[in-house]
Amino acid sequence: MKTRFARRIGTLRPSTIREILKVTEQADIISFAGGLPAPELFPVAEILAATERVLGEGGAGALQYGPSEGFQPLRECFAEESRQRGIACVADDILIMTGSQQPLDLAGKIFLDAGDCVLTENPTYMAAIQAFQSYEVRFAAAPTDEDGLIPEALPELIEREQPKFLYTIPNFQNPTGVTLTAERRCRLYEIAARYGLMVVEDDPYGALRYAGKYIPPIKSLDTEGIVIYHSTVSKTIAPGLRIGWVVASEEIRRKLTIAKQAADLHSSSLDQRIVHRYLTEFDSQGHIEQIRRAYGERFAIMDAALRETMPEGYTWTHPEGGMFLWVTCPEGTDTNVLMRQALERKVLFVPGQDFFPDASGRRFMRLNFSNASPEKIRDGVGRLAEVCLAASAASAVIAS
Ligand SMILES: Cc1ncc(COP(=O)(O)O)c(C=O)c1O
Repeated sequence: MKTRFARRIGTLRPSTIREILKVTEQADIISFAGGLPAPELFPVAEILAATERVLGEGGAGALQYGPSEGFQPLRECFAEESRQRGIACVADDILIMTGSQQPLDLAGKIFLDAGDCVLTENPTYMAAIQAFQSYEVRFAAAPTDEDGLIPEALPELIEREQPKFLYTIPNFQNPTGVTLTAERRCRLYEIAARYGLMVVEDDPYGALRYAGKYIPPIKSLDTEGIVIYHSTVSKTIAPGLRIGWVVASEEIRRKLTIAKQAADLHSSSLDQRIVHRYLTEFDSQGHIEQIRRAYGERFAIMDAALRETMPEGYTWTHPEGGMFLWVTCPEGTDTNVLMRQALERKVLFVPGQDFFPDASGRRFMRLNFSNASPEKIRDGVGRLAEVCLAASAASAVIAS
């Protein structure tokens, strides 16, 4: 019997990262592939204590169904956090989400019909491509440079492709690590407002700045109610909690709430209360400082190791925060091939291709610097450089 799947699932590209992550379980592999935080920095003791308090003091509420909009005291925490980031809002403007991934799916659900266009950065977050792809859409991709998306490219793309929304990751972007400058945020917002284009602003990494100056989100400029801002505790507390939040206008929140009800009724009551306790009763800011310091150090170690060992012709970004840097290899390199060679040397990265909506971009690789220890970073970059050196030598032979 032939299984009759929906058309949309046939168009979904499998994620290389998920495939890669299956082999990272092997102990001797050094992985720069996943987007994983440093596990040794998870606040395990604090989360244990917060959980005990939640369950010990009126635990039934934590085990009961709850409102789709979220646990009110946690909405207040995230409203305060969003205000500190520069966004004017109150608790009722917040919806609690199951991570930062859910708002991507729900934005797709409420805005996208089959054949619609989504405008993204080129390259962009692979799982956002997947989330939107399941609504059978087309993509238009805006060019980026070391200051993020280039706003001047937007009007022509908007007029030609008529996108339903622009999806952007302004801080320490996944995969490139670059940050959209303050000036470009203003220009991007002006253009979006002029065309009445919705903006989905994804900010999982903004709190992880280890260098440079803070830049307020695009949402802080939003006088028209066209920006849907979302963030998460995945990178600042732990991704296993699956808690994030959205700030959006009332009209959009109402639709998102209905879409969320259909998706999962509400995010975990227990996890929401644990996060609330953790944020209000423990030193969450001190913990973020610790993460920032560690990731800043790890970036510096990776950058220095790349400088010392990589062959001529390889360049990479210098992020001021977040968890990733982006390597540009010499013209003609195919990082899908390079990855298989790297795997033989027991080091992993993600080839660039999956981050491009049109699957171009084969000369790039994404390296994660948050997950491996400093020693493993040095060792892994050394192995990667050997693979790149061998590839450069081979292409020199072919060229001659
Ligand atoms: C840009 C971006 N958006 C969303 C997510 C999903 O985050 P969460 O774990 O909060 O669902 C990630 C995770 O890596 C990400 O990099």
